This record gives sequence, C-alpha cells and structure tokens, in this order.
Amino acid sequence: MADFQTLDTIEVRGKRVLVRVDLNVPMHDGKVTDDTRIERLAPTIRELADKGARVVVMSHFGRPKGIDPSLSLKPLVEPLAKAIGRPVAFATDCVGDAAKAVVDRLQPGEVALLENLRFHKEEEKNDPAFAQALASLGDIYVNDAFSAAHRAHASTEGVAHLLPPAAGRLMQAELEALNAALGAPKRPVMAIVAGSKVSTKLQLLDFMLSKVQVLVIGGAMANTLLAAQGKKVGKSLYEKDMIDIARGILDKAKTSSCDLILPVDATVAAEFKAGAATKTVSVDQVPDDQMMLDIGPQSVAMISDRLGQCPTLIWNGPVGAFETKPFDTATVALAKRVAELTKAGKLLSVAGGGDTVAALNDAGVADQLTYVSSAGGAFLEWLEGRELPGVKALKR
Ligand code: 3PG
Repeated sequence: MADFQTLDTIEVRGKRVLVRVDLNVPMHDGKVTDDTRIERLAPTIRELADKGARVVVMSHFGRPKGIDPSLSLKPLVEPLAKAIGRPVAFATDCVGDAAKAVVDRLQPGEVALLENLRFHKEEEKNDPAFAQALASLGDIYVNDAFSAAHRAHASTEGVAHLLPPAAGRLMQAELEALNAALGAPKRPVMAIVAGSKVSTKLQLLDFMLSKVQVLVIGGAMANTLLAAQGKKVGKSLYEKDMIDIARGILDKAKTSSCDLILPVDATVAAEFKAGAATKTVSVDQVPDDQMMLDIGPQSVAMISDRLGQCPTLIWNGPVGAFETKPFDTATVALAKRVAELTKAGKLLSVAGGGDTVAALNDAGVADQLTYVSSAGGAFLEWLEGRELPGVKALKR
C-alpha cells in the first residue's frame, strides 16, 4: 500500500475523521436483509473510534432524485451501532447546520452518521462547493467505499483533494486482493467470466484476453459465442446483434496467448422453470425446441481440471441460470472446487459482482475463497482495467 496512506500511517486522536463508506445495502420494509457490507466496513469505524477519533460517517443509499424519505439512512443507525458496538448519532442532513451541530458535539471515540449524500444533486455532480461543505466537517478523509470508487462524486473524489486522504481497512483489503490477482499474480491466471450478456462485458472480455492465460466463458454469454461459431443454439438466450462482435472476440483469442474456453456440453430444458425436465447434450447438438440453461458436467470437469493447473483465479458471473434449480449445478460444483483448491493452498481465488457472491453463498463457500469483493460495478470496472476515480484520488 505504498501509494496510499492507511490507518497505520495517520494520526487520528482527537481529530474529526470523515469516513466515506458504502451503506447501500439491501433493505426490505425498513430492515437490512443482507448485512455483509455493514460487517465489512465496521472494523474501520471501530478502529478509528478506538484510537480516539471523532468519526463522521457518510454514505449514499439508493439513487434518489432529491430528498426521498424512503431512502433515508436513519434506519441504518441501529444496524451500524450494533456492528461497531457503540452508539451512533444521526444528522438529518449531510451538510449545513444540521450536520455541523452533530459533528461539533462529537467527543473523541464517538461516531455520527450523516443523512444520504444523494439527497443533494451536487454529490453526483462532484460539485466543488458541495465537496468543500463536506470537507468542512472533517480534518482527515478516509475512503472505505471501494464499491463506490468507480463514481467520481464529491464524497468519493472531490473531498479527497481537500483533506489529507487515507484508505480504510476495507478499501485496503480490496486493493491488496485485487492487486494480488491481477497486478503481479502467479501465472497462469484463469478468469471465469459469465453472465447473461456479451454486450455488458465487452470491455472486460477484451481486457481479460490480454491479461490472463485462460479465459472461461459461461452463462448465456457463452451461447452468443457458440452461435458466432456457427452452432445451433435452439431456443437459448443469446444476442443476435452481437454475433459479429462475438466473432471478433473469437478471432482475437486465436491471436492472443490466452486460451479461450467455451462449454462443450450443456444442460438443456424446453422451458426455464424450477424443476423442469432436463437433459445433457453436446453444444453441437442442441435441439431446436430446447434452451441451454447451465453448462454440462463435461464442461465442469474440463474447467475443474484446468483450475488445478492455475494458481490464480478471478471469477465474475455464475456459469448457469443459478437462481433456478437445477441450473445452479455447474456453478455450485465449480464453487466447491475453487474452495477446495483455495483451502489446500493451491489457488489464490478472487471473486466479485452481486450475482457471483449470491452464487457463492448458495454453494455455501463464500467465506472459503481468498477474497470476495464487496463491490459490484466497481469490481467490474476494475476488471476492465480502468482506474477508479475514488482510488486514484487517494494516491499520494
Ligand atoms: C453499489 O451498490 O454497487 C454501489 O453502492 C454503487 O451504487 P450506484 O451504482 O448507485 O452508484
């Protein structure tokens, strides 16, 4: 972490530390339904409070257009207090008198949460005056929101230029893990890239072809590539208008030093529903009235075998329609293999993206990989080789 200040290198006692976190967590009826992000950001706040900082926590929540009480951060006060093991004061605005009054009352070791940053449109515009108003609430800026670092907003980018910046523990862990997987990894590196659309992951595929030695493509994205190879894909979901681009990817793979792996067999069904009658077919023999909904056992065996020869894995996207059983079979089998190799010390495994994490949870192995990123969009942009504005702004 030579590029960044961290909690190890800054002195926070008695100081007001403005901490950007990502409390954009799933909620239903005012209750948090998955507290993973809260649990993962808690250590930074706890550490700062233990060290005698006056901790001012800020975050966005959802995508409000102006003030929207249904997207208030107030319901997050209790879950946050529980996770950090101390009370959390709440400011009904993130800037102005309401925020200042709460921050002025903070004693060393105390924590306050500011209202949703996105209630002000200036946040997303990275408005300099708004960034200045936020900066006036702190003496030091800590960014612990890797998952929002792809946004060049006032709280993720602007403020970093106005206060001495440092990376929080979660940001630090994300950057260290991602760097281990793609910065200077042990080779060969395998990437599993899957999901429904080639169109949303084009740049990612392109970057991976030049970065990794083995690229496995799964999910409905693979159907588009199989169709581009001239195979009949029956009723399978695929992107007709992406066929030419998919051909370009296949051509690029031939001239690159990356081995592109597509499924050789598939689990097919006549309809996409739980418990549908399925069969396994070769990708060369998909019946006209059937659709590919998961990669088949031969493909899983082939990928598992290659995994045994790769010391590094980057994984984004389930290889089948995993939300509906039995089309989670291949994803679960691969997840278990990844966990087993990681546990045996043979594999450094890094995964990320909302669906991927849900699939790893489904397989019961989310805690058995080397690192599972808490980020969705930011993880994808990082995989595309882009510099994230929120990370860049932290650099010394
Ligand atoms: C996320 O949940 O991925 C981050 O909080 C970013 O949210 P956004 O896509 O609304 O900027």
